[in-house]
Amino acid sequence: MRCAYSPRVSEMDGPRRDWEALGEIDPLYAILSAPDAKHGAWDVAAFLATGETDAGRIMAACGSLRLPAGREASLELGCGVGRITRALSPSFRRCVGVDISAAMIQRAREMNADRPNCEWVVNDAPDLAAFDDGEFDLVVSFIVLQHVPDRAVISSYLREMARILAPGGALVVQMPASMPLRQRIQWRRRAYHALRRTGAPERVLYEGLGLDPIRMNWLPRRDVEAAIRLGGADVVDVQDGWLGDGSRVGREQNLTYIATR
Ligand SMILES: C[S@@+](CC[C@H](N)C(=O)[O-])C[C@H]1O[C@@H](n2cnc3c(N)ncnc32)[C@H](O)[C@@H]1O
Repeated sequence: MRCAYSPRVSEMDGPRRDWEALGEIDPLYAILSAPDAKHGAWDVAAFLATGETDAGRIMAACGSLRLPAGREASLELGCGVGRITRALSPSFRRCVGVDISAAMIQRAREMNADRPNCEWVVNDAPDLAAFDDGEFDLVVSFIVLQHVPDRAVISSYLREMARILAPGGALVVQMPASMPLRQRIQWRRRAYHALRRTGAPERVLYEGLGLDPIRMNWLPRRDVEAAIRLGGADVVDVQDGWLGDGSRVGREQNLTYIATR
């Protein structure tokens, strides 16, 4: 692994700044927006149990395709506080969680101090240049790419996740393929950013006014598959929703892709 550049907080803007704020104000709800879990109300054990469930689904879906061939290393792009990476840690010798937000990574370090084979990395780049070709047996990303505003950057991450995949490895990535018009309006996000431009503090907008900075995006299936192919891997399975978890399917058409090389 090479070292990633990490800018100071004063240099931050755009999505990194938004995730930094959420990572400080309400990280668990920003990761999983369960009803009644806002403002720090998530029960931590229940929150971590969802990671065990998701990691179990990931390993089962890969296992049914006889993937991955090796168990040396895994990487999660957009790991948040490490909900999924920690749950994968018994299955791999080394588990790397990567996130754009230093606040999320700080929480991940604190919450997963009992997992010595996990590494936590801040990466603000639109690529994964900090990692080598073929370095990871499993690469996963859930509820992340849909929040990346720029489709060219989404495609870059897909390409990069394929590039760092080992031969016989498994890439498992969730991404909405479309979004209903009503959901595209995102008035809470628009109001948040309009008020931020007037100098309103993030905490007031989020806690006081119930606004949210995060964008929802989508990418058609053919574009996801093409980006993965450009990275040198091929999609071998596409499942509806989050690997069969109907409770996580919103109004958008969520797909989970499994690829190998
Ligand atoms: C909804 S949370 C999901 C966290 C984790 N994947 C999980 O399921 O528990 C989205 C995470 O993606 C991170 N994120 C957003 N854009 C990112 C980017 N461009 N690169 C890396 N992480 C990013 C956010 O900081 C946040 O921690």
